[in-house]
Amino acid sequence: MIIPYGKHKIDSKDVKYVQKSLKSKFITQGPAVKKFEKNLKNKVESKYCVAVNSATSALHISCLALDVNKKSLVWTVPNTFVSTANSALFCGAKIDFVDIDYKNFNISLTELKKKLEKSKKEKKLPSLIIVVHLGGNPTLAMEIKKLSQRYKFKILEDASHSLGANYYGKKVGCSIWSDATVFSFHPVKMITTAEGGAVMTNNKKIYKKLRLFSSNGITKNKKDFLINVKQPNYYEQQVLGYNYRMNELQAALGISQLTKLHKFVKERNVIANYYREKLIHKKILFQEINKNTLSSYHLFIIRILGKNNKKIRDKILLGLKKKKIYLGIHYYPVHLQPYYKNLGFRRGNFPISEDYSDTAMSLPIYSGLKKKEIDKIINYILNNLDEK
Ligand SMILES: Cc1ncc(COP(=O)(O)O)c(C=O)c1O
Repeated sequence: MIIPYGKHKIDSKDVKYVQKSLKSKFITQGPAVKKFEKNLKNKVESKYCVAVNSATSALHISCLALDVNKKSLVWTVPNTFVSTANSALFCGAKIDFVDIDYKNFNISLTELKKKLEKSKKEKKLPSLIIVVHLGGNPTLAMEIKKLSQRYKFKILEDASHSLGANYYGKKVGCSIWSDATVFSFHPVKMITTAEGGAVMTNNKKIYKKLRLFSSNGITKNKKDFLINVKQPNYYEQQVLGYNYRMNELQAALGISQLTKLHKFVKERNVIANYYREKLIHKKILFQEINKNTLSSYHLFIIRILGKNNKKIRDKILLGLKKKKIYLGIHYYPVHLQPYYKNLGFRRGNFPISEDYSDTAMSLPIYSGLKKKEIDKIINYILNNLDEK
């Protein structure tokens, strides 16, 4: 039996929804996409939602809608999936990174404040910062919002990991401390639409731009037309957009999956608490969950501490792999990817993220993971923390 670090859970209700949609009049865009968007925005209490075919697309159109262009500077963290940083590059912007917090593995507020102050003096402030709620642990958005007012940058939340998480009594996705929030529905994520993503925002102007950019830059809404063409079936291309739309089959699956979000988050929290209880050890550091937040636990991350910690981490990863238990590393630092090294980034630029990547591992966590399987993982780790 293979145990991955994460996987989707599809039940007969999901299958029924998709089958129904497959047999309906619409398979591209129709009532299911509309309903999924409505249900999602109601769930996270945001005003607008645009569903698309991946979080990568969602990040791209968010950057475009937030006016990122070749004159812009965008900051994010190095320990994220490459598409967070790539989305700024898609728009021709310059990218830079802010190191992470040693304890909670999200953007470091101390590093961010230092970098903002230095950049202010050098007149090189970013126009956008993309924060990532790593593993489902919400970043302290309220604090970042305060800084954004002082240093005048926009905020995009990459919440690919954190649908179902809460902060300060609000749902991640509510976007009250940011300009927009992105979710991913890739199968390992909190819910799945096979491939899929969405952007949430409370700003109508941003919402309208998101729609345009996700749909070839085209509007069919007469009220928005820029020119007056008297021709039936006229539609208007107003910007250079993409075909990033979500389809009906994905949305039908999303509607059904969304009804189980609460259950998925609860199950993941039960598994996380069990790991936290059983893995207490001086060589193990858990991800610190920020105060006043609930993690959705897309990932359960631990770090190995002490002498030869990288060697021990690698030995555990490889040993469990032999048993067909596949842990993850989230992430190899983006700035050390060859593509980013070609842009001038080097090892040593963001030491906390680099050290994190050398010593962290994501343990299996998903709905349906059995206690027997979790115990096997726990025992293996505890028995292999010493260098032999
Ligand atoms: C933090 C983060 N951002 C963006 C993405 C991209 O998501 P997608 O695969 O839906 O394009 C991922 C996917 O792994 C991710 O983890």
